[in-house]
Amino acid sequence: MTLNADRLWHRLKALHEYGQSPDGGVNRFSFTDEERAVKNQVSKYMRAAGLEVREDAVGNLVGRLEGTDPAASVILVGSHVDSVPNGGDFDGPLGVLSGIEAVQAMQEEGHKNRHPIEVVAFTDEEGSRFHFGMIGSRAAAGTLRPEDFDRTDNNGTSIAEAMKAQGFNPEGFLDAARKPGSVRAYLEVHIEQGKVLELRNEPVGVVTGIAGPVWLQVRVYGEAGHAGATPMNLRKDALVGASEMIQFIEEETSRHPRTVGTVGQLRVSPGGVNIIPGDVEFTLDLRDIDVAQRDAAETAIRAYIRKVCTERGLKSEIKELQRIQPVQCDETVQILMSEAAKEAGFTAPFLPSGAGHDGMQLAVLCPIGMIFARSKDGISHHPDEYTSKEDCAAAAQVLYRTLKKLS
Ligand code: GLV
Ligand code: MN
Ligand code: MN
Repeated sequence: MTLNADRLWHRLKALHEYGQSPDGGVNRFSFTDEERAVKNQVSKYMRAAGLEVREDAVGNLVGRLEGTDPAASVILVGSHVDSVPNGGDFDGPLGVLSGIEAVQAMQEEGHKNRHPIEVVAFTDEEGSRFHFGMIGSRAAAGTLRPEDFDRTDNNGTSIAEAMKAQGFNPEGFLDAARKPGSVRAYLEVHIEQGKVLELRNEPVGVVTGIAGPVWLQVRVYGEAGHAGATPMNLRKDALVGASEMIQFIEEETSRHPRTVGTVGQLRVSPGGVNIIPGDVEFTLDLRDIDVAQRDAAETAIRAYIRKVCTERGLKSEIKELQRIQPVQCDETVQILMSEAAKEAGFTAPFLPSGAGHDGMQLAVLCPIGMIFARSKDGISHHPDEYTSKEDCAAAAQVLYRTLKKLS
């Protein structure tokens, strides 16, 4: 087998150059110059791997390896190259570059694929810029709606405006949709972003399903006032109310076996040292692989927010930013991946994914499957995110063997 671990590692390291953040990680948000530059570099790797490169209507970067039967259904392999703020080098790029490496190795080996294979870097998986992720895979799945393009970033720029600024025509987004029945499967290599594989001393795992996130934006209105002149018993402090709500989110999610809840953004207004906060906004990311558990936690959190508002004389508004159902990975693909792993000498335990992935959107279109590579200390969405060269190569190798079986 000819998979080139050095080449894969070299490319992973090279992408760190694109969108470096002052804090040691990378900032690559959708429809920005940094994202454009990293995609240009990835296109070069795709061409070097013998792929024909195009970009679809929403900016998904696609490298195609023709099959001996060009009319056969296509196998998609992908991930993303956008990042969270100050993100790491592996979340996303490992999947795209593993796909490129696998098809390059297949060709170097002289393997003939009947089914065409397309390696895809999906637009905006992370949702960092518009609080709405998986734009590219939603478009490919045909589930993106025209009104989604009105969503704005923190500067008020809409997705449609950001696309136009990068030369895309948002109105053409339906062209990115794949026809039902045209996709044989979607495969993705990703870092685990957790500690399961590390604790089990296994380099790779096969993913069984993906937890579904709900993202809410909670706005709490109180009364701004003078920090010196307003007695404590006469205040309507929106931040103190929000703090109680946030505290409850931790308590409530801890009552469920696997539900996780995170408040990752907090805006306090007017934001003066000597002003009582009158208007606070925070985000909530709530997830579980079991949708009933997640929804029960959400119901309790919403009720608690109402209770705090009643007790403190505050008002609240909750906006749903996105709601994605958990999905199961296809059993046949899981078995193929498991066999491929065994042939490569790995036990590859089965495990669920707590993090979200483009496959969640593509599952309405085709069977999906994912291979996880061991993460060091489970760290992710952080510059210290790390997976060793050997573990990256192990996951790419399982992909390569799975692809040969499926194609
Ligand atoms: C993406 O990484 C997500 O799970 O939010
Ligand atoms: Mn990712
Ligand atoms: Mn991520």
